[in-house]
Amino acid sequence: MKRACSYAAAHAASLADPAGFWANQAAHLHWNKAPREVLSQDENGHFRWFADGEMNTAFLCLDYHVQHGRADQPALIYDSPVTHTLRTYTYAELLDLTARFAGGLRELGVQLGDRVIIYMPNMPEAVVAMLACARIGAIHSVVFGGFAPHELAVRIDDARPKVIVCASGGMEFDRIIPYKPLVDEARASATHQPAHVVVCQRPFVKAELQPEVDVDFDTLLRAEPVPAVPVPATHPLYILYTSGTTGRPKGVVRDHGGHAVALRFSMEAIYDLAPGEVIFTGSDIGWAVGHSYIVYGPLLRGATTVLFEGKPVRTPDAGTFWRLVSQHRASVMFTAPTAIRAIKKEDPDGALARQYDLSSLRHLFLAGERCDPATYEWARQVLGVPVIDHWWQTESGWPMLATLAGLEGMPPPRAGSAGHPVPGYDVHILDEAGQPQPAGITGLVAVKLPLPPGCFPTLWNDTERYQAYLEPFPGYYFSGDGGYRDTEGYTYIMGRVDDVINVAGHRLSTGEIEEILAAHPAVAECAVLGIADALKGQIPVGLVVLKDGHMIGEETLEQELVAAVRARIGAVACFRQAVAVKRLPKTRSGKILRKTLRQLADGEAFALPATIDDPLILDEIRAGLMRRGIGLAFESTTAA
Ligand code: COA
Ligand code: AMP
Repeated sequence: MKRACSYAAAHAASLADPAGFWANQAAHLHWNKAPREVLSQDENGHFRWFADGEMNTAFLCLDYHVQHGRADQPALIYDSPVTHTLRTYTYAELLDLTARFAGGLRELGVQLGDRVIIYMPNMPEAVVAMLACARIGAIHSVVFGGFAPHELAVRIDDARPKVIVCASGGMEFDRIIPYKPLVDEARASATHQPAHVVVCQRPFVKAELQPEVDVDFDTLLRAEPVPAVPVPATHPLYILYTSGTTGRPKGVVRDHGGHAVALRFSMEAIYDLAPGEVIFTGSDIGWAVGHSYIVYGPLLRGATTVLFEGKPVRTPDAGTFWRLVSQHRASVMFTAPTAIRAIKKEDPDGALARQYDLSSLRHLFLAGERCDPATYEWARQVLGVPVIDHWWQTESGWPMLATLAGLEGMPPPRAGSAGHPVPGYDVHILDEAGQPQPAGITGLVAVKLPLPPGCFPTLWNDTERYQAYLEPFPGYYFSGDGGYRDTEGYTYIMGRVDDVINVAGHRLSTGEIEEILAAHPAVAECAVLGIADALKGQIPVGLVVLKDGHMIGEETLEQELVAAVRARIGAVACFRQAVAVKRLPKTRSGKILRKTLRQLADGEAFALPATIDDPLILDEIRAGLMRRGIGLAFESTTAA
């Protein structure tokens, strides 16, 4: 399936003439009004793609394929071992459901530009709701089911949705999680009140519907189908909230046109997936990976997507992912390294993988966190196909570094590296003064502007915070990640350099957890660290200094803090440990030395800052963590 196009030529062309390169890519899609203005700047000086073009993403995902011979081809295979359901939806069926649900949303008063929050697990109705919003130019914002009502309320107040679409519940392993009471609780604490809550009733958990406000999902499906509305290419398709360094999440905006162009290109050039082929992405529709490679990318390509409701393990076993590949004949699989580590832990020899015919699989793609070389090698040996670690962020919406499986002349993947810059991305490693770092030296990862289509053009309600990405290095987007490039051009992304941590491929703000810990009456001050974890990559651990005179035991305090984080952020935070310490390291002016704490947590060698008031504090903290058996980094440094 390789095309004649070489990676080197494509990347060079994309940087030499971005507008020309992306105009060629845009020509692969159907436009209601073809763009003439390919690359321009908005009133804030931010780059915009295809500003005068008009199209509709849902049309491209569904109607276009139905009109071009794919009506009876499977668009989506819903495979849910947790609910014992397997169902295939053809393009024609998915279009019909989407067009009806879009009609139903309209009848509820949802119009162009209105926001709709979707709070549902991986289920076909969630995909229908997303596409239905896109169809009428409403802006969806999917909120991951693992977030607690408070987080949902924060998003309700920021996005101000006209409607919330939710499931009556989800299934975590064999545990039922009712979602509707969580939505009701969020609504009770939010200032903004959506007009309606549309509830998709699931057989295993029935939600109470309140008259006037709540509407049954099926009622909307009985509406007259409506056609796709052409929208400007710059019209927002969705808002996806992600953690920043404070307690307030950032609403990453994705637009219709650039996103469609970029994702179609990525399906071909990065994933090498042809129309009609099958991709299985083991993620959740609540994350960027799920948006791009469970829903939009595969459908824009006319491929078949496998929507999996379950976990890589215990649903029912660590062979689930391999069963999915085999049964649905997936050519491409994509998941997070943490999922592979979970499988490896339960099936270290890969015996379960050998039980399935995996001959359809050409590549395994990994992203969401750094893939450690041991996990990389294990997956490569067990699957016998190239494993491709690739780097991206919610902000970019598609990969920035990768090994592009669909282009010629691509250097092969290498353990520990996320590969090479994808066409459109000019990735640089800079020092703090913005100077390029030599090969082999770790620095800050920044991408020269303009970012290619698909990347976020702004943050919802917050151009100021958008500016914060651009300020550290004028002319560049600063990713917040650190990394280096080797002499052969491979780039290695080593982790965040800010107060964001990555837990099981999920991005969390240590600052947000700190705000919750600091609100406890016994806590004088605190710091939250991301500590290395063999399964989840990192887990948050709280260091807390007690107020004088507070007689609470460490165990009780820990229980109360764990409960508080769970209640406010949700189970997904995986916050389970808090360690009482006498003091935190500070500069003489009283600032907590977070960078030093991060280095301590990672077991990195570091120079003691000259401004630290007492170097012994760090030894005390290390001893406190070791006493509680916390942290791989400590074990490895001690062993060494
Ligand atoms: N709804 C409600 N609760 C949820 C949830 C959801 N959609 N998703 C997770 N949770 C809960 C879990 O039940 C768990 O609760 P608990 O503390 O009561 O047990 C908690 O949030 C943490 O969940 P998770 O991080 O998923 O841990 P786990 O131990 O249940 O599973 C893995 C571990 C590795 C199997 C799991 O994290 C995984 O599959 N990771 C893949 C990562 C991924 O898809 N990343 C997306 C980026 S590509
Ligand atoms: P998210 O926005 O939730 O997708 O998280 C993005 C962050 O995950 C990045 O800033 C990185 O820190 C990390 N990340 C994602 N993919 C990779 C990768 N392939 N290698 C290293 N880190 C990654």
